[in-house]
Amino acid sequence: MKVDVLLGLQWGDEGKGKVVDVLTPKYDVVARFQGGPNAGHTLEFEGQKYVLRSIPSGIFQGDKVNIIGNGVVLDPALFKAEAEALEASGHPLKERLHISKKAHLILPTHRILDAAYEAAKGDAKVGTTGKGIGPTYTDKVSRNGVRVGDILHNFEQKYGAAKARHEQILKSLNYEYDLTELEKVWMEGIEYLKQFHFVDSEHEVNNYLKDGKSVLCEGAQGTMLDIDFGSYPFVTSSNTVCAGACTGLGVAPNRIGEVFGIFKAYCTRVGAGPFPTELFDETGDKMCTLGHEFGSVTGRKRRCGWIDLVALKYSVMINGVTKLIMMKSDVLDTFDTIKACVAYKVDGEEIDYFPYDITEGVEPVYAELPGWKTDMTKMQSEDEFPEEFNAYLTFLEEQLGVEIKIVSVGPDRAQTIERYTEE
Ligand code: GDP
Ligand code: IMO
Ligand code: MG
Repeated sequence: MKVDVLLGLQWGDEGKGKVVDVLTPKYDVVARFQGGPNAGHTLEFEGQKYVLRSIPSGIFQGDKVNIIGNGVVLDPALFKAEAEALEASGHPLKERLHISKKAHLILPTHRILDAAYEAAKGDAKVGTTGKGIGPTYTDKVSRNGVRVGDILHNFEQKYGAAKARHEQILKSLNYEYDLTELEKVWMEGIEYLKQFHFVDSEHEVNNYLKDGKSVLCEGAQGTMLDIDFGSYPFVTSSNTVCAGACTGLGVAPNRIGEVFGIFKAYCTRVGAGPFPTELFDETGDKMCTLGHEFGSVTGRKRRCGWIDLVALKYSVMINGVTKLIMMKSDVLDTFDTIKACVAYKVDGEEIDYFPYDITEGVEPVYAELPGWKTDMTKMQSEDEFPEEFNAYLTFLEEQLGVEIKIVSVGPDRAQTIERYTEE
């Protein structure tokens, strides 16, 4: 068997949580491969709304095994709050949630360092989620991290050494902080975590594949936030791209099957950094209002703009996307005209590839298509799609060279339309 991978193609918040939940019945196992509680994956069904941060989005569908892979960074305090809320709402997970021993722990001092580094950057700050993501991955790569498996071996000493090192850095930055409460809650999180299955997830995932079980790998953030290929330095600190599923779960590259690439019918970004198609006018405000574009974790207003096909084509290439999924189509239901960026103008010259730097001087070149002006939120099948909407889909497919297999027309699980396939 091969694993399928589902990941975001833009700047995050494409709707990954919703689609993982929708696809889970087709799989035996769902596994997160990178990121941490910087993610906020929203699911809606039966009138309830849930936001997941570290727990995979397959947790609501029956008794499927959900795995937090080695590529994830885990904050025990936030994890405890998230898991307890799920259990309280009638979704037991202790038996079904497996956590890699190799996943790195986000320490309380990582969160403080995140804030301190952002403060030191001043106007150049990244606008991180403040969850300690960058400092935790930094410690991982510099071989100073503390892992989930360490909770069971010599933990006090490993934690103490990391904390002392962080405190020295904070002192050198003259950063004032109070660790007491954060550390108390975090230690409670460590105790709580001990009830869960700590696993060698690379063995587990490969054994599932050997036994003919199907695995869906869930990405967090989006390709434009990837540490290597995103809009650096305004990115997160992990590999959000498909290759991240290999390193974040221990899956060999030749074990990758379908790659589901998710995008919104328009585009959003939260935090600082370049965004060529960003709108600062009424149209952008309308997208924000109709799409409820406020961060699921931080509540920050998301910046909105037209779809960027130059960036999307790049994402499709880097990830080897085999199937596309378009989200939030309904948000554009009332627009007279839909624009799509098909090229960038840089120094007066038109280019159709994603350049090294998009920080400055990148002007989007737009194609315009007629809007469909139809409420799509109650549609059940692609037979009901308006002509103009089908024309938009065809246009995107031609530009991106990959078929759009699923269209989402609302936040609910039920508002999801699979398109006919000829295979
Ligand atoms: P994720 O991080 O990729 O899982 O996405 P988020 O949950 O952060 O953001 C997506 C938001 O859009 C959530 O509030 C979803 O409930 C909502 N959503 C998902 N699909 C649709 C859709 O097709 N239409 C509308 N209107 N909202 C959607
Ligand atoms: P999901 O999984 C949108 C952004 C932050 C910031 C940058 C770095 O819900 O799509 P970090 O805290 O990771 O160091 O922040 O990345 N960011 C996200 N934006 N969705 C996310 O996750 C994000 N996770 C991080 O806003 O610009
Ligand atoms: Mg999100």
